[in-house]
Amino acid sequence: MSASAERDTLCFFVNGKKVTEERADPETTLLYFLRQKLRLTGTKYGCGGGGCGACTVMVSRYRPSNKTIVHYSANACLLPLCQLHGAAITTVEGIGSTKTSIHPVQERIAKAHGSQCGFCTPGMVMSMYALLRNNPHPSLDDITEALAGNLCRCTGYRPIVDGCRTFCQQEVNCCQISGGKDCGGKKEKTDETPLLFNKLDFLPLDPTQELIFPPELILMAETNRPQMLTFHGERMTWVSPVLLEELVQLKTSNPKAPLIMGNTNIGPDIKFKGVVHPLVISSIRVLELFEVTETPNGVWVGAGNTLSDTRVILKKLCSQFPEEKTELFRALIHQLWNLGSKQIRNVATLGGHIMSAYPNSDLNPVLAAGNCSVSAICSDGRREVPLNQDFFVSFGKTILKPEEIVVAVLIPFSRKGEFVRAFRQAPRKESAFATVTTGMRVMFSEGSRVVEDVSIYYGGVCATTASAAKTCAAVIARPWNDETLSHAYDVLMKEFDSLPSKAEFRRCLTLSFLFKFSLEVFQKLSEMSVIEDKVMEKIEPLPREIQLSQQEFQCVSDAQSDHNPVGRPIMHLSAISQATGEAVYCDDLPTIDGELFLALVTSSRAHAKITSVDVSSALRLPGVVDVITAKDIPGKKTRSFDGYDEDVLAQTQVTCIGQIVCAVLADSRTHAKRGASAVKISYEDLPDPIFTVEDAIKQSSYFEPWRKLERGNVTEAFKSVDFVHEGEIRIGGQEHFYMETQSMLVVPVGEESEFKIYVASQWPTLLQMAVAETLAIPSNRVSCHVKRLGGAFGGKVFKTNILACIASVAAWKSNCAVRCVLERGEDMLITGGRHPVLGKYKVGFQKDGRILAADLQIYTNAGNVVDKSIVVAEKMVLHLDNAYNIPNLRGQVATCRTNLPSNTSFRGFGVPQAACVVENMIRDVGLVLQFPADQIQEINMYRGPSLTHYKMEFSPENLLRCWDECKVKSDYHGRCIAVEKFNHQNRWKKRGIAVTPVKYGIGFPEGFMNQAAALVNIYEDGSVLVTHAGTEMGQGVHTKMQQVASQELHVPPSKVYISETCTDTVPNTFPSAASFGTDANGMAVKNACQTLYQRLEPIRLKNPKGTWENWVSEAIMEKISLSATGFYRGADTHMNWEKMEGHPYPYFTFGVSCSEVELDCLTGDYRTVRTDIVVDNGQSLNPSVDIGQIEGAFMQGLGLYTLEELKFSPSGLLYTRGPSQYQIPAVCDMPLSFNVYLLSDSHNPHAIYSSKGIGEPAVFLGSSVFFAIKDAVAAARKEVGLTGCFSLDSPATAERICLACASPFTQKV
Ligand SMILES: Cc1cc2nc3c(=O)[nH]c(=O)nc-3n(C[C@H](O)[C@H](O)[C@H](O)COP(=O)(O)OP(=O)(O)OC[C@H]3O[C@@H](n4cnc5c(N)ncnc54)[C@H](O)[C@@H]3O)c2cc1C
Ligand code: FES
Ligand code: FES
Repeated sequence: MSASAERDTLCFFVNGKKVTEERADPETTLLYFLRQKLRLTGTKYGCGGGGCGACTVMVSRYRPSNKTIVHYSANACLLPLCQLHGAAITTVEGIGSTKTSIHPVQERIAKAHGSQCGFCTPGMVMSMYALLRNNPHPSLDDITEALAGNLCRCTGYRPIVDGCRTFCQQEVNCCQISGGKDCGGKKEKTDETPLLFNKLDFLPLDPTQELIFPPELILMAETNRPQMLTFHGERMTWVSPVLLEELVQLKTSNPKAPLIMGNTNIGPDIKFKGVVHPLVISSIRVLELFEVTETPNGVWVGAGNTLSDTRVILKKLCSQFPEEKTELFRALIHQLWNLGSKQIRNVATLGGHIMSAYPNSDLNPVLAAGNCSVSAICSDGRREVPLNQDFFVSFGKTILKPEEIVVAVLIPFSRKGEFVRAFRQAPRKESAFATVTTGMRVMFSEGSRVVEDVSIYYGGVCATTASAAKTCAAVIARPWNDETLSHAYDVLMKEFDSLPSKAEFRRCLTLSFLFKFSLEVFQKLSEMSVIEDKVMEKIEPLPREIQLSQQEFQCVSDAQSDHNPVGRPIMHLSAISQATGEAVYCDDLPTIDGELFLALVTSSRAHAKITSVDVSSALRLPGVVDVITAKDIPGKKTRSFDGYDEDVLAQTQVTCIGQIVCAVLADSRTHAKRGASAVKISYEDLPDPIFTVEDAIKQSSYFEPWRKLERGNVTEAFKSVDFVHEGEIRIGGQEHFYMETQSMLVVPVGEESEFKIYVASQWPTLLQMAVAETLAIPSNRVSCHVKRLGGAFGGKVFKTNILACIASVAAWKSNCAVRCVLERGEDMLITGGRHPVLGKYKVGFQKDGRILAADLQIYTNAGNVVDKSIVVAEKMVLHLDNAYNIPNLRGQVATCRTNLPSNTSFRGFGVPQAACVVENMIRDVGLVLQFPADQIQEINMYRGPSLTHYKMEFSPENLLRCWDECKVKSDYHGRCIAVEKFNHQNRWKKRGIAVTPVKYGIGFPEGFMNQAAALVNIYEDGSVLVTHAGTEMGQGVHTKMQQVASQELHVPPSKVYISETCTDTVPNTFPSAASFGTDANGMAVKNACQTLYQRLEPIRLKNPKGTWENWVSEAIMEKISLSATGFYRGADTHMNWEKMEGHPYPYFTFGVSCSEVELDCLTGDYRTVRTDIVVDNGQSLNPSVDIGQIEGAFMQGLGLYTLEELKFSPSGLLYTRGPSQYQIPAVCDMPLSFNVYLLSDSHNPHAIYSSKGIGEPAVFLGSSVFFAIKDAVAAARKEVGLTGCFSLDSPATAERICLACASPFTQKV
């Protein structure tokens, strides 16, 4: 049978409305359809590959077989539109809106301060909503499972979890109802305890109010006889049979056509690898694939069942059968819980999983070890094929013939004396593919410890699921004892010795898992009284129960009017519209008539001459309009920084992979992207590309100048110290991973070379100037509009400009509106991130721990162009003292020029790396002297009136207060004792604890940048429009500006509106960066409001009892201008690098964090058990926003130091170009107890209302987790007699941790 040439009509529902598509294209995903066709832009694009959750929607289907409706969350980016026939889709717009009413989930996440930039919020809302549709009273575990696949780069997850946990029934008690810490019912809630939110304000959840499943779809399913459906697209045909015979016939005639089920393998292949399938066969309507049949040997589970359904089926069986029969079921359940995210498991199928034959599949090793088999069918008939070592042939290939279809999988019951276990270790605990995964089964004859049968399979050790057959042979028929196992480890080592030499970690994991299995089996044999020897305790899993966290901040004074919002935890201004999906981001703007899309073509060579660019094939493709090259630029073809030029579009040569060479303009995104892949560039490689700092040092490849500071006489001081120690640490780079990728829309106005640019930029003025120079037009023709950014973190200050310049050239040339939105992979490839560094140090100290001399040298990897790397180097060197008064200190930073994509500004601007080098040095001193780290820290900390190493006076009093308070709040000393006790009692798990201080300079050292302006308009109805220089990127600057305007004008915040940041209204601005946005713009807004309030004074005096509206109307009658600009001329900071002295910051923000971790020494897995952070935030202008900044920055730091690892190919290609390869912290990484305290009674004369800048300082506090890990590793090393300094680079990934622990297994590999 071949696919019919006729097409069918696709019918489904979205938010209760029927959608019929006559020409459904099989290549269209639901996400594309929602955003582009239905203009439902609440559902966001974050990665396109199922890895971020930003596109989460709820799918509901009616099952006529049992007349039930099922609801589940799914990633719209992986849902093929054609798969949705008969389904009902609910998007964030469908559950509530500000126009009607908001849903309790939307309300609670928003009011609990769980939405900052808001880009992840609709996805979070929908994951939670889908959970509540199935279970209105979920447990905390259910919630974290539901949110595991939703990434948030801003909040640190704590507030999202706190908002969602209000749905848990069992959680209600006196403190918890108000978001406070559980007091166990001992404490009465008092009015003095300020809270971030009050649960009592929340709407109740009323399941009866939810959208019902469309009756028409039920009718359709009940009455229509299902028919085969066919859909034809531009390049792909989709056939969806109903009967198994039809499916078999289709597959026999089209053996190459894939069976599309969950599309979680096929979808990413189409999107990321450009695979084109002329025909796909969807088998989700073939009922035989969903049958579940029990037999005496086990259960046949239909291959079409999703992984979530499979888990439910197995769980149900576990409750029906005795434990001894369900060993394999439980091992599979364990593995299914960790596999992917809930959204993935809800669509991925058992058959699809097996047939995908991933080398690191989580299920296949367990299925194989458990003697499972599949029932496969083709036109030749049906056969049962065992899932053994012969089944999995290579990556993506099995023994089945291409035309064979897996109908069901037999999962056998276990027998008495049989034990099955599964283990996995992944780069992140949840929602990440495993590094190594395993399924192990052993069978003993009754009452014996002699192995009757054994089966061990691994994933992640070679190109496919692999049997450890030789190891099994070494165990079989032998007693389960230390001797057998010791032999087994040796055999296992040899069995996988073909692994590449760098695979020590994988090899180590294979051993560790076998060891863990052996302990569990010993335990079982002992429980069954088969053995009498004293057995070692089995290793308990790491803790995972999230505790209630504490947030402490100061109440506003009693004297403050109730209407004055300053100092109160006011919710983010846009939180509700972000939660309803109504908040508009750049790519949500409606299409403009004739709009074109721009796709970039980037270099595939790291260092080469461009010999030709052939665009002819691209121009022949449908929809392609033009290709923009450097020759098309009418103005400046380069951008200049610190004396170095950067090509807007590469002209003659390329200096990194990912450099933009040209760009394709087409009538749609799809056509532009196809055009971009068709451009052919020829290169002539240039010699010696440089990728690492070490290469750069060898070849003296630097951007000048180096930055250096020195105080005292370091050389002399080294001569008189008791000890000298030298060490080094590498700190890897970091991807910004703002959830909204770089986005812009450039609109030519059509006359006088005017352009309007809607863009996600942190620095609209610089972008305006860059575009004007590129187009050779005056700046007054370019207006930049920034409504909001879906996260930025420094990544949208500079890199956005080049992209906007290219898009503007395209708009200028075509005279059409041009949209450019980067794919996640492109964004990661092109835009760089935080600078990786190599930090070397020599430190001289006394017996008592006093450091008298330190000499630090840092090399940063700047990449191919200078960008802001010199300024980053300056900030690094300015923070080389961190919190410590080292009398003789020399610090130097060299900026290495390499052939990697250029790095740029990133939250913390070099401080997180520099301070980490210092802190590592301090801890080395402790390790040399065998003193606790905190003792070395304390003895060297600044005290009393102090001078920095660049001779700036400051008082460290609040730093010391934070230090003391953090130690008290965290019960540091008590917990140190507990940690020691734990370590004494546990051989394979260790705990570690660390306290880390930070002293962070706020504002720009370049004095001229410390300025800001605002425009405040009062309208006749009394409403107020504020515009200022700050861009809203989640940090809450608009919320704070509303508070300022409200206080200064004495009007309720609801009267004040902030629409956008725009170069037309507030010109010549500086970036929202350096943690200075509120300080600068707050003063400018205050200034403008005070001017207006003074102008109104005569009117107020005339009519003191009048209302605000009366005064405003009267002022208009009296011809008083109700529009005022405000300006802030900030501190004249300066730095003289020749003299090595200056006053680069108006003030410092201080903070201290204490973290405790528990780690599994055998796998390197760890969990942050508790974090306590004390920050001197001055008088917080908005505690909820400030605490949000602290938590978010801390988690970003935790990611930097422990998780996020950029990987490059030997030729300089970034491998880690999406959430599947690059893991940012997810909800599972949040400290189990995450407490933040704002220092009380702190005042700051240098910033608005005595507050302090807070955006960046806490990134470095994330290093307390890194140092706690190092502490735990030190304890593990002690077990094998290793003491003293050791090296652990950042990020402390499971791999680095495991190898550093030096367990007997790491020593074997
Ligand atoms: C973001 C993300 C995270 C993931 N995380 C993990 C993880 O942590 N661990 C892990 O193990 N896996 C993980 N996966 C992989 C996932 O488990 C598989 O992609 C999935 O199980 C495939 O099932 P599917 O139904 O989506 O297959 P599809 O993509 O629909 O099909 C995959 C292949 O199987 C074939 N096929 C499907 N059904 C049958 C059948 N009945 N008979 C014959 N051939 C068939 C198809 O022809 C196709 O070639 C992840 C995937 C994604 C996208
Ligand atoms: S956009 Fe769909 S999961 Fe990221
Ligand atoms: S609020 Fe979650 S990504 Fe910004």
